[in-house]
Amino acid sequence: QNAHIIGAATAFGQPRLGVDLGPDALRYAGLTKMLKELGLSVTDKGNIKGNFEVEAERHNIKNDDNLLNYDAVKDFNTILAGAVDASVSNGAFPLILGGDHSLAIGSLAGISRHYENLGVIWYDAHGDLNDSRTSPSGNIHGMPLGISCGIGDADLVNLYDAGPKVKPENIVLIGMRDLDEGEKQYIHDNDILTFTMTDVKMMGIAEVMKQALDHLVEKCDGLHLSLDVDGLDPMETPGTGTPVDGGLSLSETQLAMSILNDSDRITSMDLVEVNPLLDDGNKTAGKAVEIAASLFGKKQL
Ligand code: ARG
Ligand code: MN
Ligand code: MN
Ligand code: MN
Repeated sequence: QNAHIIGAATAFGQPRLGVDLGPDALRYAGLTKMLKELGLSVTDKGNIKGNFEVEAERHNIKNDDNLLNYDAVKDFNTILAGAVDASVSNGAFPLILGGDHSLAIGSLAGISRHYENLGVIWYDAHGDLNDSRTSPSGNIHGMPLGISCGIGDADLVNLYDAGPKVKPENIVLIGMRDLDEGEKQYIHDNDILTFTMTDVKMMGIAEVMKQALDHLVEKCDGLHLSLDVDGLDPMETPGTGTPVDGGLSLSETQLAMSILNDSDRITSMDLVEVNPLLDDGNKTAGKAVEIAASLFGKKQL
């Protein structure tokens, strides 16, 4: 299999600088070498970046609708969607490196063109299902899954390809422990299959992953994994902008990824929210590389 590494060097979805360095932090942590050792052919497509000279003028400004860096997020994701679309068209597995989670607006826009019923596994402390009314922050990295379902700003919803890209019944949320009120309401109203951290601890991650796959494999023609490193506990992955205590361990996450690998159904992945400026050394990127290794078939024996 051929994997395309696409660096999504954006920090526009939230106010903290440094998450745009995430793709290079993952490269320094040995991502490409690891993938090649697992037998994949790898093409690194380099980074898509915002133009900071231009963007500096419009950095950390909110639009009338309280959305942070709105124009920059829109422009960035339009370019990213094209790159991801091209990778899928070429038969490659797009591995999109973040960058903040707003990049999933573009990655899902590019991927979803290729599938009638795209399934999405959202492995994260957060649901990222806000819109400008429910968001406590105005940060668009808290909104990409909602936007992909068709809620929120019309231009973001219609970015690259008109309308909603993902159906709520084709989503599974895993690791949830910091959901805003509007997100909880949306999950209930749309019956989204959700495994909170409490569920993970009660059931065990293996059972959670089995039920997640059972929910998706029959009806979905592609399966996208969007993995936010803040799904893990901050003791494991401190280098991230919105850490939440009480998260998944590396070993649970490795097990989750091995189960996904065994299913042989994952067709694309976002690996997001690695911020080396907030990290302890480059520890978080190192863990993220281990996570990707398990997804791509690294075995312990
Ligand atoms: N729910 C909060 C918000 O909307 C936090 C979102 C964090 N998202 C993320 N991708 N880390 O601001
Ligand atoms: Mn998160
Ligand atoms: Mn909150
Ligand atoms: Mn997220």
